[in-house]
Amino acid sequence: MVVWARIRKDFPVLNQLYEGKSLIYFDSACMALKPVQVWEAMEYYYKYLGACGGAGRSTHSLGVETSQLTEEARVKIASFINARSQNEIIWTRNATEGMNIIAATLPIEKDQNIVTTSLEHHSGMLPFFKKCQEVGCELRLVDAKPDGTFDAADFEEKIDDKTKIVSFVHASNLTGTIAPLEDVVKISHEHGAWVVSDEAQFAPHNKLDVKKLDVDFSVLSIHKACGPTGIGALYGKYELLEQLDMFLVGGDVIEDVVYENGKITPKYLPPPHKFEAGLQNYGGMMGAGAAIDYLQKIGMENVHNREQSFSKRLLEGILELEKFEVLGPLDYKQRAALVSFRPKSDVMNHNDVTEYFNDMIPHHKILMRSGNMCVHPFQYQIGINPGKGEGITRASLYIYNTMDEVEIFLTELENFAKALD
Ligand SMILES: Cc1ncc(COP(=O)(O)O)c(C=O)c1O
Repeated sequence: MVVWARIRKDFPVLNQLYEGKSLIYFDSACMALKPVQVWEAMEYYYKYLGACGGAGRSTHSLGVETSQLTEEARVKIASFINARSQNEIIWTRNATEGMNIIAATLPIEKDQNIVTTSLEHHSGMLPFFKKCQEVGCELRLVDAKPDGTFDAADFEEKIDDKTKIVSFVHASNLTGTIAPLEDVVKISHEHGAWVVSDEAQFAPHNKLDVKKLDVDFSVLSIHKACGPTGIGALYGKYELLEQLDMFLVGGDVIEDVVYENGKITPKYLPPPHKFEAGLQNYGGMMGAGAAIDYLQKIGMENVHNREQSFSKRLLEGILELEKFEVLGPLDYKQRAALVSFRPKSDVMNHNDVTEYFNDMIPHHKILMRSGNMCVHPFQYQIGINPGKGEGITRASLYIYNTMDEVEIFLTELENFAKALD
């Protein structure tokens, strides 16, 4: 049994008064808070190791232990998403870097195309847009429906035998949509296309099984999964990672650089080290391993079930007020644990909501994010104009939130709504 009150104690930031008020953290879709276990793992590295890792680099005791602990953390990530081997896991700075690695190193010809959707985070879209501009190939967009859901048939229309890769967000950070990834993988594979799934919002909250999904690549944002900032991971089927070109080159990615007759011939390492040039964020990797241990101990099914009960109430509570436009599907079962909304009235906008909850309610600070969440195209599609400063407020939940916090938020939102009359 998970003692949720105990979990909350692992996050000291929530157990303090900030400017004299209690904090309610509703911004985990941007950045999750970090439990004490994560910074203890990092502290161990910085206090007692501090050396470099990497295959065959520093063979003294501190170097060996650093390599050992970071490779153990890689194994933990592999097991967390059910990859076949730790060699399918590449350390990155974040999900964005993972997408950029794939786009930059993808072998693609001018007459081929890349498919993505209007609901992607810019990180899942722009690296492929850039690649298409460079190569001269076509970028095809599947429009999400106005409620943020997808029709598999729309993918069938856009994916053909010339499609090299499909980039698809598994859980949207804007609408909360849980996407029909299985269908898209099936359609893509029928045409010989690869699929990269953006797991930044799905993996921290659900059991992700890349083997079962048969997805070809996935990007993870470990800072959204209780891990340290500046660390992420890229998963790829090993045989496909082998087919990708080099990304950054330099130290740590080579077996040898032969020098003969005035010419150099580099011999590169196989994946995953092929993609990890230069000294790495060893402390961050150890923190990432601790974050995965932490989530695994709770159990991803428990994480999902608890969040879903809160997000049901959150969604229904906001809708009941009838004063706010809510983005995304209205069935909580089709959604991640977040709700993006904006006042229907022109009296206040999305920024006013965020400011009000941060500064103006008694006893609490409810911390949310407002803006466009790096998903501009879908907002243009549904009539929100980021270019004119329009946007939404997003409340997003995680393991340390409580139903009491959701109720406090809804009571305060009702008070706020009175000012909209
Ligand atoms: C769905 C989605 N994809 C990608 C990203 C980018 O993640 P990162 O900050 O790890 O690069 C985010 C961040 O908010 C996201 O929500």
